[in-house]
Amino acid sequence: MDTNKIKDIIQGKQGVELLQTIAQAYPSEVVFSTSFGIEDQIITSWIGKNKLDIQIFTLDTGRLFKETYSLWSRTIERYEVQISTFYPNTEQIQAFISEKGPNAFYESVDNRKACCHIRKIEPLQRALKGAKIWITGIRAEQSPNRHDMSDVEYDEVNNIIKVHPLFYWSFDQVKAYVSKENIPYNSLHDKGFPSIGCEPCTRAVREGEDFRSGRWWWEDQSKKECGLHVTTK
Ligand code: ADX
Ligand code: SF4
Repeated sequence: MDTNKIKDIIQGKQGVELLQTIAQAYPSEVVFSTSFGIEDQIITSWIGKNKLDIQIFTLDTGRLFKETYSLWSRTIERYEVQISTFYPNTEQIQAFISEKGPNAFYESVDNRKACCHIRKIEPLQRALKGAKIWITGIRAEQSPNRHDMSDVEYDEVNNIIKVHPLFYWSFDQVKAYVSKENIPYNSLHDKGFPSIGCEPCTRAVREGEDFRSGRWWWEDQSKKECGLHVTTK
């Protein structure tokens, strides 16, 4: 399966219609990852309201904000969806914390990457098993790195096609849609957090600062990616 085939199928389609088309073309082979960000909430609303054949999953790193867990609860109630949850491998996380302590990610980039690997990347590999298409809430506008991505792309690392249905949406469009449709969203978005990940690695940004500047803010040279989204077109 290549990206061109998917591009042909979704040609001229947008939003829920695009998702519906993919779900029908690949029954039981489409998954969607949510971190309960504002973009993800739109996609979950489309899947839930239309009962699309798309399996939703989240990676619970164990270090999420309490606001995220609260939104997670509200979301499954509101849209009556099942969200499969993937946790870090017990032995790996026990060994890492025993050796390095609970906040080792502040000490070096290597430690940070190791933490992200154990808490997100390895569980992601389990979550994607058996799937052909992976839907995400990525938008081009979120960072220069993402600007260079494509709305349909091949992920070599995970051997899967990724589709980002909101790729061309602006943040204003996202906020307007969420407000119009009364979609529940993380209360942290109203407190200066445009991008929300793990609690110790996310802080609020000031007006005019980059969208993702509150993520891993102490890593000046970082490309602000944890490794979930390393792809080639
Ligand atoms: S990250 O790579 O920096 O953490 P970001 O928070 O921008 O990613 O989210 C982009 C997309 O990655 C989300 O729309 C979602 O599809 C996926 N994602 C990120 N974090 C998680 C998570 N913890 N669980 C499931 N999906 C996630
Ligand atoms: Fe660990 Fe921070 Fe990565 Fe979360 S974002 S997995 S706490 S390093």
